[in-house]
Amino acid sequence: MSAVRAAARLSVAPMMEWTTPHCRFFHRLLTRHALLYTEMVTAPAVVHGDRKRLLGYSPEEHPVALQLGGSDPVLLAEAVRIACGFGYDEINLNVGCPSDRVQNGSFGACLMREPELVARCVEAMAVASNAQGGPEITVKCRIGVDDQVPAVALRDFIATVSGAGVSRFAVHARMAWLQGLSPKENRTIPPLDYDLVRQVRAENPSLHISLNGGIDTIDAVVAHLDDGFDGVMIGRAAYHDPVRMLGQVDQRVFGAPARNINARDIIEAMVEYAARSDAPVKAIGRHMLGMFGGQHGAKIWRRTLSETMHLPEAGPHTLINAYEAMNRRAVVHA
Ligand SMILES: Cc1cc2nc3c(=O)[nH]c(=O)nc-3n(C[C@H](O)[C@H](O)[C@H](O)COP(=O)(O)O)c2cc1C
Repeated sequence: MSAVRAAARLSVAPMMEWTTPHCRFFHRLLTRHALLYTEMVTAPAVVHGDRKRLLGYSPEEHPVALQLGGSDPVLLAEAVRIACGFGYDEINLNVGCPSDRVQNGSFGACLMREPELVARCVEAMAVASNAQGGPEITVKCRIGVDDQVPAVALRDFIATVSGAGVSRFAVHARMAWLQGLSPKENRTIPPLDYDLVRQVRAENPSLHISLNGGIDTIDAVVAHLDDGFDGVMIGRAAYHDPVRMLGQVDQRVFGAPARNINARDIIEAMVEYAARSDAPVKAIGRHMLGMFGGQHGAKIWRRTLSETMHLPEAGPHTLINAYEAMNRRAVVHA
């Protein structure tokens, strides 16, 4: 099995404005093995925009997968050709995002209706990637949209797109209702159907299928893997509660030896990262607000960091100051 496939046993989902390079660097301190996805970047942005800003990342983030959005095979192929120069471990096509902006561009979840077009896109992407010695092309999708019948739509989609050469999918196990629900509602209201994804996985033993949607404990991750899924993808839980969700996965999901992850070491590594980054500390610290979720002092950390990282005098030291404030106050109030 390729290294990236092995890493896909547990992945952190692509999330716009959340899974930035700063966030991924932080997550990588918590897990050495999980696969980390970028935010979605559209193919036209890659082709016409500031490539270094859109595609640049730190080497420590590997294994890292780029997610592209688009529905024009020519533009997607060109975006893949450009992205290959950045050394991503995987390039993924977004067939799951329901926002209006994405629908106007006719890509994202509405492509669930157009498996033939997705097939042409991934074929063009794979040709471009192979020509550069680039990475595997994968797809993240829903189980259907609007009035589609998921048991039919998902099977058709997977059959057509895998027929075009894709052998790894991440499936967000709920429909997207494109009329009337916001993107946020589309991540909570349509019901989850893990059974359907499990059946489709069993019918396609040669494919690698990761389950995504509503998985928010490591016990649940392990149970889904034991249940036959090749991988599990976690989004919001990893972002909001990173230490609890990612701090144990190397051991529990990848069978790696236990690592003593010390909060202070992580914060110090983030201080060093912030010191060598051009970004203001608030752009880095905002991904760390959930770091002490559920632990004693978590509120003090969150409040101190969110109040101080926006100040004009804020800098890398703001992170360590917030940690020390939490320790002092947590002790006083214990
Ligand atoms: C803030 C936010 C941004 C997201 N952006 C993307 C995106 O760029 N591409 C994508 O495929 N899915 C995106 N998603 C959906 C997630 O990747 C994931 O499929 C969804 O949150 C369900 O997984 P979860 O229940 O583990 O969070 C986003 C989700 C959130 C919360």
